[in-house]
Amino acid sequence: MTGRLQLVRAAVAAGVLAAASIGAVSASAAPAPDGPHTRIVGGDIAHTADAPWAIALNNSGSPVPSGQYCGSTLVAANKIVTAAHCSTEAAGTYTAVQGRDKLSDSGGQTSKITSIWVDPDYGKESGHDVAVMTLATPFTGVPTLALETSAAADAEGAASVVYGWGSTEGTGPDDTFQKVAVPVLGDAYCSDVYASEGYTAAGEICAGYKDGGKDSCQGDSGGPLVLDGRLFGVVSWGVGCADAGNPGVYAEVATYSAELQAQIG
Ligand code: ARG
Repeated sequence: MTGRLQLVRAAVAAGVLAAASIGAVSASAAPAPDGPHTRIVGGDIAHTADAPWAIALNNSGSPVPSGQYCGSTLVAANKIVTAAHCSTEAAGTYTAVQGRDKLSDSGGQTSKITSIWVDPDYGKESGHDVAVMTLATPFTGVPTLALETSAAADAEGAASVVYGWGSTEGTGPDDTFQKVAVPVLGDAYCSDVYASEGYTAAGEICAGYKDGGKDSCQGDSGGPLVLDGRLFGVVSWGVGCADAGNPGVYAEVATYSAELQAQIG
C-alpha cells in the first residue's frame, strides 16, 4: 500500500514538474538531438476543426507564453474532462480554449473555469487520474465526445489516437495541435515494464509502441485518447516520451465512466 501511495505521489509530482518545465525546455534548451525520444512524438499536425471537442487547458501559471498547460475534452457544452494531476490549481487560473490550432494565435473561443471536481480517490488509490471542470461560458454547438463505458474496449491492438498541444521535444512546432495513432499494447505489457512504477490494470490503458517513436508527452496530459469516436482515455503519465519499452499510460475512462457521468449530468 505504501508503495502504491508513493507511486501516486510521484505521478502527481511528475505531472506538476512536467507542466512547469514546458517553458524552460522550449525557451532555453537547444533543440534536442534527433532520436527516438525526441518527437511528440512522431505525430502529425492536426486541426481542431476536425477534432472540435479537443480543448486546450491553459493556466496563468504556465511558464509558456501561450499559457499552454494541459489538454482536455468537451463532454457537454459546459463540461470538460481532464486529468486530476492537471487540476491542482485554483479554478480562476485556468482558461479553456476551443478551436485554436496554434495556441500563440488568438482564434477560436475561450472560457474561464467556475468549478473543478477531482476524483476523490486520486492520491489515495493508484489510478483515478480524472477530473471534470465546469465552463463559465458553455461552448454551445460544439460537438462533444461520449464517454467509453465498456472496459472491454481496452483490448490489445485497439486503434486509439491521442491529441494534444504538448511537447514535441524539439522536433515539431511548439504549442501546435497534433495527433498520433497509439495502438493499445495491453495491460500485461505495462504491468511488466512499469512494475516498479505501479501500472494499474483496472483503471489505466497502456498504449503506444514497444519500440517507441510515437507517444504523447509533457503538456498533453489531460487530453483525449479517442477510440471509435468515444473518449477512451485521458493522458496521464509515462517514463520519458516515446522511449522504447516506456509507452504512454492513460486513465481508463470506462472504469470511471459512472462517476464522471454523474458530474457531467
Ligand atoms: N504527465 C504528463 C503531463 O502532465 C503527460 C506524460 C505523458 N507521457 C507519455 N510518455 N505518454 O503532461
